[in-house]
Amino acid sequence: MKAKILALLRERGDYVSGQELCEQFGVSRTAVWKAVGQLKKEGYSIEATPNRGYLLAPESEVYGQHELCSRMGTKWAGRRVVFYETLPSTNLQAKLDAENGAGEGTLIVADTQTAGRGRRGRSWSSPGGKNVYFTLILKPDFDPEKAACVALVMGLAVAEGIEKACGVQAGIKWPNDIVVQGKKVCGILAEMSVEQDFIHYIVVGVGINVKEQEFAPELADRATSLWQECGRNVSRARLVTEVMGAFEACYEEFLRDGFAGKIMERYNGLLVNRNREVLVLDPQGEFRGISRGVNEEGLLLVEREEGSVVEVYAGEVSVRGIYGYV
Ligand code: BTN
Repeated sequence: MKAKILALLRERGDYVSGQELCEQFGVSRTAVWKAVGQLKKEGYSIEATPNRGYLLAPESEVYGQHELCSRMGTKWAGRRVVFYETLPSTNLQAKLDAENGAGEGTLIVADTQTAGRGRRGRSWSSPGGKNVYFTLILKPDFDPEKAACVALVMGLAVAEGIEKACGVQAGIKWPNDIVVQGKKVCGILAEMSVEQDFIHYIVVGVGINVKEQEFAPELADRATSLWQECGRNVSRARLVTEVMGAFEACYEEFLRDGFAGKIMERYNGLLVNRNREVLVLDPQGEFRGISRGVNEEGLLLVEREEGSVVEVYAGEVSVRGIYGYV
């Protein structure tokens, strides 16, 4: 009920009487008063005035379970949120939960991660109070070969969600780094559990730099945050819910029509290294070429000097710009 009260107060932007809240949620005045008291304890600024009711101060938000639930406008993606102040890693927690029966669309969110994980065995720095770290659980019934595209679909959704939440134009560096002005603002780590032809689950983890004002010198030329790009604070809860909204729409389109078609077109439209010279860091041997965008399987097409086109699979391969990160 607390999330519903918050949603109503935020939407109204004015006083809402205790009576209206009671009628809306079918509870007693005492129950409303208690719920509002708990929200205030959590840090919300809610004014209670006799004869007028309750007023939520504009911009008053506390990043957590109730804020996220009060903003989630999706049908299934993120409809169930589990928020933690601290976790080793939201991907790790999501995998445990998926194995223990958590359903499709469950969203694990943490304010801090103590063992955040990146692609190719790297770590993901996850300080508290600043950024967004979440993992979505999916339990699809398509063939495992299609699974690689799910991370790309999330990449597209993050770029679209960022634009909606704060108006910043984000691009994608294949396979799924989200970049703004040539610097990385978000990383995505998808992991899955498969048995023969059957996917038990896919967990898609997303880390977005939101309020980071300064990066370590070794990262400063290739990492950025939304704060740095738009010069103001961006609501982390709004960002998560916009990404969930965009993901739900993109993923449903992907399930219906596959990756080929509109989704691939939109993805390629945002690909910052399309038609640029890239260095493919393949453990079998590095090579240079021109990136021509992804195909219907999500593989990057790289045209080599002598004209042959190589399909690059994201697994162990990384792509760098010749003159920098993008
Ligand atoms: C990358 O290397 O670019 C991918 C980084 C993915 C980080 C996110 S943060 C939320 C989720 N939990 C993790 O441990 N990792 C992902």
